[in-house]
Amino acid sequence: MNVAQLGTGISASVVVGGPFSLVDDPGQSVTDQTYRGRWMLVYFGYTFCPDVCPTELQTIATALDKLGPEAKSVVPLFITVDPERDTPAALANYVKLFGDRLVGLTGTPEQIASVARAYRVYYAKVTPKDSTTYLMDHSSFIYLMGPDGKMRALFRPGESAQELADGVRTRMATS
Ligand code: NI
Repeated sequence: MNVAQLGTGISASVVVGGPFSLVDDPGQSVTDQTYRGRWMLVYFGYTFCPDVCPTELQTIATALDKLGPEAKSVVPLFITVDPERDTPAALANYVKLFGDRLVGLTGTPEQIASVARAYRVYYAKVTPKDSTTYLMDHSSFIYLMGPDGKMRALFRPGESAQELADGVRTRMATS
């Protein structure tokens, strides 16, 4: 992992990722061990997100299409930072918009806080003036975790699906 691949606020000496205990969108309990042996593309966001999340999730879906058969060994995980509104059912409806691969994960506020801390994710509730509903301000990196659960790459928001697909393919080839 070189420093250039690491995002703002994450230094090269910091371990990113680790154990988590969450609930998937069919409502089953899962942990990081559930996905061990497969690559994970991990993205944090929330279903009410007006712009960045849908864009990034579409990028992930398109990148996996571009990967072809290799995509079978990659599980894309969308972890909510808004467990209050993002129930398993809400996530199930939402992830369908991006094809049939994406898995939505939620949990208790404490479980979400714990996994966000492990991935060094920033998130905060923001209520705009004159609004009755809140938004979630959140960092927006895509994490590529290897079959051993360790981070292999970090992709910044705005990278293209082709860049993401190429990045994943390169790491899979050299692991
Ligand atoms: Ni978002």
